[in-house]
Amino acid sequence: MTATVLERPAKPLIQTIGMLSESQQIAVRKIAPHDQARVPTIEAHRPSSIFTGQDRYDLEQARVFRKTAVPVSLSALIAEPGSAVAQDGYGVPLIITRDKRGDIHVFLNACQHKGSKLLETCDPVKTGRLVCPYHAWTYGLDGTLIGAARPETFVNFDKAAHNLKELPARESGGIVYAMLDRHAAADFSGIDPQIALDMEALGLPDAHVYGRKTFRLDANWKLVQEPFLEGYHVQRLHAQSVGPMFADVPNVVDVFGPNIRQTSGKLNFMPSDLDIPGENIHKTVTHAYLLFPNTVVVTSPYYISVMIIMPNGPGKTTVDYAMLTRGPADNPKGEAVYKKSYDMILKVFGTEDFRAAEISHVGLASGALDDVVYSGLEETILLYYKILEGYFS
Ligand code: FES
Ligand SMILES: [Fe+2]
Repeated sequence: MTATVLERPAKPLIQTIGMLSESQQIAVRKIAPHDQARVPTIEAHRPSSIFTGQDRYDLEQARVFRKTAVPVSLSALIAEPGSAVAQDGYGVPLIITRDKRGDIHVFLNACQHKGSKLLETCDPVKTGRLVCPYHAWTYGLDGTLIGAARPETFVNFDKAAHNLKELPARESGGIVYAMLDRHAAADFSGIDPQIALDMEALGLPDAHVYGRKTFRLDANWKLVQEPFLEGYHVQRLHAQSVGPMFADVPNVVDVFGPNIRQTSGKLNFMPSDLDIPGENIHKTVTHAYLLFPNTVVVTSPYYISVMIIMPNGPGKTTVDYAMLTRGPADNPKGEAVYKKSYDMILKVFGTEDFRAAEISHVGLASGALDDVVYSGLEETILLYYKILEGYFS
C-alpha cells in the first residue's frame, strides 16, 4: 500500500474581503464614503496626573495589570510544540512555553533552586527542556522538575515540590494571555470570542514573525497607546511618512468586552472600492485593535503589527513590537517588500509615534498642564478610558 501525501493548499498571500470574519465584513461595509464622513464635536478632558501620578500608576497595576489576564506573547513565536520564549517587559520575568502536547504554559522565569533565570534572552528557542545555567536543574516544558544535579546531597529532597511556578494562562486568537500575579484569582473575562475570530481571520495564530524589536521608552504607557486610538495626529505627525495615505475622518468603532476595533478606509475611500474583485482588502481598509488593556494590532497591506505596551512606572514603558506576515517571503522581491516595510514601520512608530509620546510626557511631567483636552477625532481614546476607569470602581 502506498501512502498518499496530502499537500496543504498554499496560504494565499493576499486577503480579500471574503476572508475577513463576518463581523469585520459588516464593519467595513459601514465605512462612510470619504466625502460624507462627519467628525463629531466633543468636550472631554482628563487630568494630566493620569499619566504622571504614582497613585494612578499603582491603581492601574492593582486593578488591571495584577488582577486580570494581560497579553504576554504571541502564539506565532512558539508555534511548534517544544518551544519557549521569555518575556521581561512587565518587570516580572516570564517564560512562555508550548509543551510537546501543544499546550501553552506561562511560568515565572525563576529556577526553584535559587531563582536564577532559565532563559536569559527574549528570543524564542526550540528545546525539549529548560536547563538552569547556574547548577543545571532541568525542567520539562510543562514546568516539571526533571532532574537536579547531585540529588543525593539533599536530605529528603522532594522533587515534586520544586516544579516551576505556573501562572494561569490562556491562548486566544494568536495571543497568549496570563495573570502576572500568581496569588490573584484568575480573571480571563476580558478575552472576547469575537476578537479571537477576527484575529484568526487575519491569520494571527499561524503568522510568520518577520521581525521583532523592543523599545524602552520614557513615557507613560497610555501616552504610547493613545496614537493608536486616534486619527487626529496621522496627517500631522506622519506628514512626511504615512500621513498622506490616510483621511482625516472618524473610524467605524466596535467594542467587544473591553476590547476595541477600529475600521477605517484609506484616503478617498468609496464603498465601491470594496467590491473590486480579488482586491487586497488591507490596501483599502485598515484595522486597528486595542486588545485590553495594552496591546495594539494594526493591519497593513502585506503585514500586521502587534505591540504589547507594558508599563514599568508612571514614566517608563517597554514596547514589544512584532511584524507578522502571512508566511516567509518565497522570492527576493517579496523579501525586499518585507524588509522595506519593516524598516519603514520601525521608523514611523519609533521616531514618530513613540517620540511623540516621550515629548508629551516631558511636558506633562513639568506640570505645565492641569488637564489634557481631547477633540472629536480623538473620541476613541475617551471610550478606552471609560472602559479602563470601569476597572477602578
Ligand atoms: S539556581 Fe538554578 S540550579 Fe541553582
Ligand atoms: Fe501614528
